[in-house]
Formats: sequence, structure tokens, C-alpha cells
Amino acid sequence: MRHPILVLDTFTANQIAAGEVVERPASVVKELVENAIDAGSSRVDVRIWSGGTQEIQVSDNGTGIPRQEVLLAFQRHATSKIRSADDLLRIATLGFRGEALPSIASVARVAMTTRTAEESEGTRITLEPGREPVISSTGCPVGTTVTVSELFFNTPARRKFLKTPLGEAGAVGDILQRLALANPRISFKLTDDRKIALMTPGSGDLRETFASIYGVDTARAMLPVNFRGTWGEANGLVSPPAISKGSRHHQTFVVNGRFVRSRILSQAMDTAYYTLLGAGRYPLAVLHLWLDAEKLDANVHPAKLEIRFYREEEVIIMAREAISGVLRAHSLVPGIEKPPGEGPKIEKPTYQSYRQISVPGLPPFDRVAEPPVGDEEYTGGQDWTTSRLPVEIPPQADLPVNDTTEHPVKPRHPELSGLIPLGQLEAAYILAQGQEGLYIIDQHAAHERILYEQIRQQAEDSSLPSQGLVVPSAVELTHEESVQLMKHIIFLTELGFILEHFGGHTFLVRAIPAGLEQTQEDQLLKDMLDLLREMPGLDDAGFREAAVKMMACRRAIKAHQRLTPGEMSHLLWKLSLAKEPYTCPHGRPTVVLITSAELARRFKRSAPA
Ligand SMILES: Nc1ncnc2c1ncn2[C@@H]1O[C@H](COP(=O)(O)OP(=O)(O)OP(=O)(O)O)[C@@H](O)[C@H]1O
Ligand SMILES: [Mg+2]
Repeated sequence: MRHPILVLDTFTANQIAAGEVVERPASVVKELVENAIDAGSSRVDVRIWSGGTQEIQVSDNGTGIPRQEVLLAFQRHATSKIRSADDLLRIATLGFRGEALPSIASVARVAMTTRTAEESEGTRITLEPGREPVISSTGCPVGTTVTVSELFFNTPARRKFLKTPLGEAGAVGDILQRLALANPRISFKLTDDRKIALMTPGSGDLRETFASIYGVDTARAMLPVNFRGTWGEANGLVSPPAISKGSRHHQTFVVNGRFVRSRILSQAMDTAYYTLLGAGRYPLAVLHLWLDAEKLDANVHPAKLEIRFYREEEVIIMAREAISGVLRAHSLVPGIEKPPGEGPKIEKPTYQSYRQISVPGLPPFDRVAEPPVGDEEYTGGQDWTTSRLPVEIPPQADLPVNDTTEHPVKPRHPELSGLIPLGQLEAAYILAQGQEGLYIIDQHAAHERILYEQIRQQAEDSSLPSQGLVVPSAVELTHEESVQLMKHIIFLTELGFILEHFGGHTFLVRAIPAGLEQTQEDQLLKDMLDLLREMPGLDDAGFREAAVKMMACRRAIKAHQRLTPGEMSHLLWKLSLAKEPYTCPHGRPTVVLITSAELARRFKRSAPA
């Protein structure tokens, strides 16, 4: 049976809109606080009772609403913030739809008192769903206070979906923290059942706001982002790799003043910290991006929590550059001053080149004869990283180890290039003297970092060297392993393996990646295939990455290997050329510094030695 088409009454229309705008107390708080921010407030006071399920009150000291507009504010599509669809292209306010107040008023009891600076007395309006609003005069300061009671009292099905007061209070706290981080000029206060849960100074200093949420110590350690690029500006705070969290929850993205969730900004963050953090660890961050308003669309999500960037690629590059620049410039060894920044640069996408490879079958055998390709940036002396360590390290003990004229390339991290090795501790750590004090370098981790960057670069350039085996080695695989091998054979070839199918599940290994000891060839191959079995969800890029890390780890010198002074200084020099010398590819530190000041303090000397 068909019913005639009718236009819904205002009340029903508002309730439907409310379904999108108001999901829980936190969304009410978000809308009311955003109104307060749009009204130019410098102070916003939020109080909640029973997690906001019983009552929510938001007071501000903003412009207030003139008496004659108060009723209008609660009508749908009534807004002072835009005038026409054209304005949507240049939204400078957080609100623009004229939907929040009528939506809230359709699912709760609402009271508002408000006064503008021009009015001598304020206005009070009370609204109850389905009833006529009541307006009266009242004495009140300039600004607006909105009280929302018994959210969803008239929509029991939705009330049932609310979490416990504790859970709802948590969500309110979370949203208010983000609003505060997005607006350091505004002082926010949250009182949860009479307890003060959050108070920010509103000084305009993001670090101070951050400190009131995450504590002074964390705030002090955060690295400042100040980036101006072709496409806009980025500023904020990001954590050094030493401080990380188990989820992305502690990352706040703010675009043109609006706090948003953004998959692409999270990705940019991940890329910038790539290899600096261990698996499952994420940095803390507050990133403010300032872009031309016409480069984004804020009108794409019912709760305005997401935005669309018209040129996502630009935004990703900008955010990544901004963050990587900071991480690069920052010396990750505690206590060391920043080396002169290199300025951010755009990195090639990882393994882009592989996508263009056509499948030629196995490469020509003469590849084995190619000389190993060394590190392009280092021309002095034998290349440690492609040699088979430690056997082929040239004796360099007689070189003046701190004489950088031996090394024509400018180090990326000069504070490391000048290190003078003093000796080895437990045949595992290099002790070295530097500008700032005593440096302790984990020889395996440091070498792993050097090799990792080099292999990754070579893999990207498809120039990983192979070393031929005098006698090819036959490797027997399981069915599963051989399927995996066939699937990834091109990549294995690019890594330096040269393989030949010998029938059944047996393969001949004719060459292996340069730098490995020959006894390792079967094992490395099998380990790589294991990796694929253990992580079935691993995509191509993930496998390549894991394989490169594995190769770096296998080729790196191990603990308990004695090094000559020449070898040590060579290792330190190579480390100073690395992009991210202070962590190994698994995110563990490579260098620990005990500053001269720290030594002086421990020995109770007044000044650094
Ligand atoms: N705290 C406040 N101080 C001053 N004016 C306010 C305040 N809250 C609401 N208003 C006025 O009421 C209007 C309606 O508010 P409402 O939140 O419903 O819509 P909006 O903010 O314009 O858009 P949106 O639905 O996207 O939030 C606003 O445009 C603004 O003029
Ligand atoms: Mg609004």
C-alpha cells in the first residue's frame, strides 16, 4: 500500500537531523563548544553530570546572541556564519549548517542565557521538545550559557545505547582535549561531577596547553614543528621517537583550526616515523595545518569530523616533510644540540620502482659478475657495508680517525662524524669521545641501520649486488614454500638471489645477496619464506620491507666481534651519513650519550671536565 508524499513536520525533521549530529554527550559538548569558539570566546567552561547523560552545561564569554535572534538560533538552517553556498568554499568558522542547536533541542531539554555587550539585560530561553519555547529577561554576563538536560529522554532507544557515565565522561574529556589542543588561545575547563577534569591556560602557547593534558615532562620533550611550504603551513608538536604510545589515539590533527580525523594525515605521520619506532608504537602529536580554505571541503561528514582535501597528495607530502624535517634536524641522542638542519626533502615513495617492473623470468646469469655497487655517497676507502664483514674490512688503524678529509662527503650528522673511538666494551659496544661527552654505540644496531638504509636504497634503485656461488647450492622446499618463492621470485632476484628451478620443489641457488656469508644462503632464503608464511596478510611492500630488515640484520656485524680502531671509526663515519642514525630499523637506540656535564655531576666536579 502506498502512502501519499508529505513534507515532514519541523519537529520530526529535527529529530532525524539530530540522529546524525547528536550521538552522545560528547557530540553535544563538541557542538556547543564549537559555537563558543566561533563566538570569539577566550574562556569556555564545560560542566557535566553523570558523564553528560544527566546534564551538560557550556558557558562562554563570547559575543552572545541579541534578544531578537535567540529564537532564530534554534531554527533549522538558521546560521549567522554563512550566507550562500559560495561561502561553503571559504568556511572560516567551525559551524556553518545551522543544525546543531535545533538538533540538540529536539532530543533534550535545553535552556540558554545569553547577552551581547550592547544589551543591558540578557535573554533566557527554555525549550522542550514538542512545546513552545519560553523567552524571558535575565541578568547575566556577556556571553552564552547553554544547559542540556536529560539527553535522549524522548528517544529511549538512543538513550539505551549510551555507555556508562564513566565511559561518556571519557568521551567528553577526549573531545575537549582535542578542542583545547586545536585552540591554545582559549582557556578550557571541564568539571565532571564537581571534579575538575581538565583546565588549560589559554595562553596561546600550544606546549602549555599540551602540558596541561599530557604532563610537563612529556610536553617539554616534544619537538616543535614550524614548517612553511608551497602549499601551506604546518605547526605543532611531535614526540621524539623515545616517547611513543601503543595507539594512534594521542595524535590530534587540526586543519584550519578544525580538529579532524584524517586517515591521510595518520599515514603521513607513520611514514615520517618509519623505522624510528618499533612495531605497534605511535608518536604523540598535535599537528596544525593551515591551508588555503579553497583546498578543502569541510562539508562532507555529518559531525564535521572529517574533511576532504582536494589534493590529498599535496597534504601528505607537506605533513610528511614537516615532520620528517623536525625528526631529521633533531639530534635523537639526548643532550646533543641539533646539527644544522638540512631542510626537509621529499623522499621517493618506497619501492615505487618495483611496480614498473615487467616480469622477465630470471635475470641473465652475468649479473653475478657485476661488481658490487657501493654507497654512492662514500668514495673514500673500501665500502664497509658491501664487504663481507668482518673479514674484508681494510685495516685502517693508522688513519687519523677524526680527519674528515679522508671522507669527502658531508656527513648528515656531523656530531657523529667527529667521534674518536676509545675502544670496545664487551666486544659489543664502541666507546667514543665526542663534543658532548662519552658516546656508547651498539655496534650491531648501528651497522644494521647503515646497511638497512643502503639496502633499501639499492632495492629502490634495483641495484642490489649479488655474489655468485662457486658451487650452486640446491635448496629443497616444501610445497608451500615453493609457492611463496615463485610468487616473490622477482623481488628475491632484486635482493640479489639468483635462483633456478631444478624440478619438483628443489631450487638451485646460484647467487646470493652480496655481503652474506655463503653458509647463510639457504637459511636466509628459508627465513624469508617463513616470514611470508607467518604473516600471510603481509602485502608486497610489507614483505619487501621485512626482507630488507632481515638482510640488514644478517649482514651486520654481531656483538662479540672485535673491531680495530680503523673499523670502529669507519663504522661511526658511516653512521654519521645515515638518514636516521639514532635508531636501528627495529626502533631500538643505536647510540647512548653520557654528557660531560653528567660525568662532572657524577664525579661531583663543579664544571664539566
Ligand atoms: N555560544 C554562542 N555564542 C554566540 N552565538 C551563538 C552561540 N551558539 C550559537 N550561536 C548562534 O546561533 C546560531 C546557530 O547555532 P548552530 O550551532 O545551530 O548553527 P551553526 O553553528 O551556525 O552551524 P552548525 O550546525 O554547523 O553548528 C549560530 O550561527 C550563531 O549565530
Ligand atoms: Mg554550531
